[in-house]
Amino acid sequence: MSKRDMKRILVTGAVGQIGSELTMALRERYGNDNVLATGRKTKPSKTLLDSGPFEFIDICKRETVEKVVDEYDIDTIYNMAAILSATGEERPLLCWDVNINGMYNILEIAHERDLTRVFVPSSIAVFGPETPQDNTPQETVLKPKTMYGVTKVAGELLGDYYFKRFGLDIRGVRYPGIISSETHPGGGTTDYAVEIFYEAIKNKKYTCFVKKDTVLPMMYIPDCIKGTIELMDTDISKLKHHCDFNLTAMSFSAGELAEEIKKHIPEFKCEYKPDFRQAIADTWPKTIDDSAARKEWGWKTDYDLAVMTKDMLEKLGKRHEEGNL
Ligand code: SER
Repeated sequence: MSKRDMKRILVTGAVGQIGSELTMALRERYGNDNVLATGRKTKPSKTLLDSGPFEFIDICKRETVEKVVDEYDIDTIYNMAAILSATGEERPLLCWDVNINGMYNILEIAHERDLTRVFVPSSIAVFGPETPQDNTPQETVLKPKTMYGVTKVAGELLGDYYFKRFGLDIRGVRYPGIISSETHPGGGTTDYAVEIFYEAIKNKKYTCFVKKDTVLPMMYIPDCIKGTIELMDTDISKLKHHCDFNLTAMSFSAGELAEEIKKHIPEFKCEYKPDFRQAIADTWPKTIDDSAARKEWGWKTDYDLAVMTKDMLEKLGKRHEEGNL
């Protein structure tokens, strides 16, 4: 195998909600030593540390990224480091710095070293109140009202620019809210759809920070990881889009999610006390048209609300019994 065929992967944000599970999936596929996990300051889990290399870097400090890219002879980067929507409203400058300046560093490093491929996630946060909220089209109005959304629109455009201008093979999807049981999400508006499971298992009650009838597009983490890796595997000649694929798996209201949990835990009670995150959720789509992803790289989902709920409760229930939640 020539060196160029080999995958030497860097995952930034590897301690985060998606990065932690993506790293393990990539390690399984490409070999533990070929996938470098990195984080900024959060302590990595034992699973992450014991299974392969880990380094602390800061994508806003270019030299820290350059050092590991050179040292580990990296050819592919998954840039999962980001500040999400709710934290972004509390710390807009930090959000800009990490999501834009950090991403710019990644692109420049990839371009200068002629890396094989880069993945940079986008989000449903690119949409805003002027966007059609039902079956939101692939090509539509992008006028977000959060700093996070602003950085994600700019990130999509920047990525597409690097592809057209410099031929950098960069890809990305607009993730919906991601539901997972390994690592907590941090600072997002869709976090309620994860917290509700932990609270249902631990306390049989949850106070939800969006209204009962709030509907958002969501996805279970196995679908998220599968989709991410599949997009990165696709022959580039098949792709018409690059950094901005709409992607979804299911849409439900907070109330419908609570009802689904009740089917398994009948005594579960959910209250609704909307906070500032309601206003963010209100500007995002309810359902998404992801036909471009289906057509261009064969995207399809495995998990709906019922199957995801059952699996989440089983996984978290087991950890709770082990005293590990
Ligand atoms: N889960 C993200 C957030 O809520 C959306 O991309 O900020």
